[in-house]
Amino acid sequence: MTSNSSYISCRDVFKIYKVADLEVVALRGLELEVARGEVMAIIGASGSGKSTLLNILAGYDAPSAGYVRVGDYDLLNMSSKQIVEYRRHEVGFVWQQTSRNLFPYLNALENVELPMLLAGAGGRERRNRAEELLDLMGLGDRLSHKPAQLSGGEQQRVAIAVALGNRPSLLLADEPTGELDTETGQEILDMMATVNKELGTTIVVVTHDPAISRSVGRAVAIRDGKTSSEIRGRVNFDRQIGGGRQDVEEHLLVDSSGRVQIPREMLESLNIRRLVQMDVEDGHVRIRPSDATGETPDEEHGIEKSEKS
Ligand SMILES: Nc1ncnc2c1ncn2[C@@H]1O[C@H](COP(=O)(O)OP(=O)(O)O)[C@@H](O)[C@H]1O
Ligand SMILES: [Mg+2]
Repeated sequence: MTSNSSYISCRDVFKIYKVADLEVVALRGLELEVARGEVMAIIGASGSGKSTLLNILAGYDAPSAGYVRVGDYDLLNMSSKQIVEYRRHEVGFVWQQTSRNLFPYLNALENVELPMLLAGAGGRERRNRAEELLDLMGLGDRLSHKPAQLSGGEQQRVAIAVALGNRPSLLLADEPTGELDTETGQEILDMMATVNKELGTTIVVVTHDPAISRSVGRAVAIRDGKTSSEIRGRVNFDRQIGGGRQDVEEHLLVDSSGRVQIPREMLESLNIRRLVQMDVEDGHVRIRPSDATGETPDEEHGIEKSEKS
């Protein structure tokens, strides 16, 4: 559903990177709706476009085409002043690389205070807020530790506190547990759940970590630059997506043009190539490999045209 009340709304988003003469289509018609106050995960194979999407939502990169709105911000039509305001106040970002999130020569408290300082917050306010956030992250006794004196998990917790300094409505995290062991990763995800509960922050986290299963209610899978399916209920990553375990409900997304992406595993296992046949039976839509060969037609038989209509 493309409801207007969503906090994040992405429709038919394209991102094309040009490298020398080559064009890489990183996002192709991606659609995503996220409600205010939701915690959701983005999953998908390496190279599927997860980071591209997150960078766009963070305001670090602009989409090539489509519609992206976060709160009151139209991300395709922002002035440079609005972009600065958006990045500073609307979103907080946590990177996978622990070292990228923190300044090594600043202690935990100073790291958390820095973005607030840049946003013009007063000294007392900064200090109070930073202490409060580090407390929330369970780091009340680590305030004067520098990153090198903290474990990987602790560094990521400081990074979350840094991201939350200016009270953003949205917290984005790109594989924040990627460099951590499963147990520490789970701690980070639990922290995100705490942040959501205590501060009401909307959270979008990219992960391929099984540990996320206990922390989110909804995961959206990206395939080849397009949001392809949604997994609800007990999210369990101990299996191939599309493989069909009983305790997981995977739903394919129907985009605003009526397109559904058939997972590659299914295409391969059913030997589906260029053409399929589709019919309705008993309230089901059946898709099966076409009797036709599926080879490219020798001449225009109107097939291409009817595919587009
Ligand atoms: N700055 C860039 N320039 C060129 N190609 C890029 C750039 N960033 C990403 N890509 C390409 O876009 C696709 C999606 O990348 P990415 O969003 O990083 O995927 P993921 O985070 O899911 O691994 C990949 O094919 C990648 O090589
Ligand atoms: Mg990535």
